[in-house]
Amino acid sequence: MKAAIYKHYGSPEVMQVLDLETPKPKPNELLVRVHGASVSRTDTGFRSAEYVVSRFWTGLIKPKCQVLGSDFSGVVEEIGSDVKRFKKGDKIFGFNDKTFGGYAQFLCIDENAAMANAPSNLALVDCAAIPEGAHYALNNIRAAKVSEGQNVLVYGATGAIGSSAVQLLKYFGAHVTAVSNTKNVGLVKQLGADEVIDYQTQDFTQTNTKFDLIFDAVGKSSIGQCRKIMKEQSIYVSTELGKYGQNIWRALFASFLGKQKVIFPMPVATTADIEFLAKLVQDGHFKPVIDRYYSLDQIVEAHRFVQSAQKTGNVVLQIMPKD
Ligand SMILES: NC(=O)c1ccc[n+]([C@@H]2O[C@H](COP(=O)([O-])OP(=O)(O)OC[C@H]3O[C@@H](n4cnc5c(N)ncnc54)[C@H](OP(=O)(O)O)[C@@H]3O)[C@@H](O)[C@H]2O)c1
Repeated sequence: MKAAIYKHYGSPEVMQVLDLETPKPKPNELLVRVHGASVSRTDTGFRSAEYVVSRFWTGLIKPKCQVLGSDFSGVVEEIGSDVKRFKKGDKIFGFNDKTFGGYAQFLCIDENAAMANAPSNLALVDCAAIPEGAHYALNNIRAAKVSEGQNVLVYGATGAIGSSAVQLLKYFGAHVTAVSNTKNVGLVKQLGADEVIDYQTQDFTQTNTKFDLIFDAVGKSSIGQCRKIMKEQSIYVSTELGKYGQNIWRALFASFLGKQKVIFPMPVATTADIEFLAKLVQDGHFKPVIDRYYSLDQIVEAHRFVQSAQKTGNVVLQIMPKD
C-alpha cells in the first residue's frame, strides 16, 4: 500500500510517500481502506516537533508512529476474529490520536477506538474532516459548561476548531459572536454566528458586550486582553498554552485568581462523542468546513499549507475518489 510517512522530525520536506506492506488486523481490529484523512495542526506540530514537549507523545529521538493522520474515513475491508461492532463493507470515520495512521491506503484500528458509522449525507472522504476540530471544540465547550442563552465569543472562528465551535455552540443554544477576517464574515454567519466582528476593521476587545465565555480557538489572545469584555464570573479558554504556558498555570491556580477563570481541559476522544458528531451531521446540525483537498503524493504541499495557519476549516488528504 502507499503511505505518507516521516522518519525524522523537521520541515514539511521530511514527509515522503513509500510503498509499505498492508497491515493485518489483530483479532480485535478492523482493516480499513482509507478514503480520506485530515491534515491537521496537530499533524504538522508533531512532524516539526517545534514544541519539544510533543516528543513525549511521539518519541524522544524519532517518531514512533511514522504514519501520521489522526482523523480518517473509509470502508471496513476486513475484520479480526473477535470484532463485534463493525462488519466488512461498513462506512466509518473516526479519530485516532494514539497510533494515527490515516495517511495511508489502509489502516488497522481497534474496534473500540473513537469511531462511528459515517453519516450518509456527506461524502465519505469529507467525513475525515469531522472529528478533530469538533472533538477539541466539544471538549472545551463541555468543560466550560456552556448553557442555553449564554453569550460566547469565539476568536479564530474560521479554523478547524473555531468553525466547529461556532456550530456546536449554536446547537447548545448559546448566543455566538464570532471573530473572523473580512473574507470569512459570510462563512461564519452561514455557520450560525449571531454577530460577527471583523478583526481587520474592529478590535474585538473594544466591543460593549460582556461574555460568559471567551473561546480563543487559535490561541492568539490572553485573558489579560479579554478581561474587560468578560462578565464578573466568566471563563476564558484557549487552544494554546499561551506565553510561558500561562493558560496552564492560570487554570491550575484558578481558584486563587479571582472570579474570571481560565480553564485548560485535557481532551479525551470517546466513541460516544464521535457517534454524537455523526448524528449531528446526519440531522443537519453540523457540517465540517473544508478548505481544500490534496492527494497522498502532495503531502509536502499539504503540510506546508496547514503549517501556515491560514487554512479555513480543514484540509483533507483525499485517498479514494468521492462517492
Ligand atoms: N489544545 C489542544 O489540544 C490542541 C489540539 C489541536 C490544535 N491545537 C491548536 O489550536 C489552534 C487552532 O487549530 P486549528 O486547526 O483550528 O487552526 P487552523 O485551522 O490552522 O486556524 C487557521 C485559521 O485561524 C485564523 N487565524 C489565524 N491567525 C489568526 C488571528 N491572529 N486572529 C484571528 N484568526 C486567526 C485564520 O484566519 P485568517 O485568514 O483570518 O488568519 C484561519 O482561518 C492551533 O494553534 C493548534 O496548534 C490545540
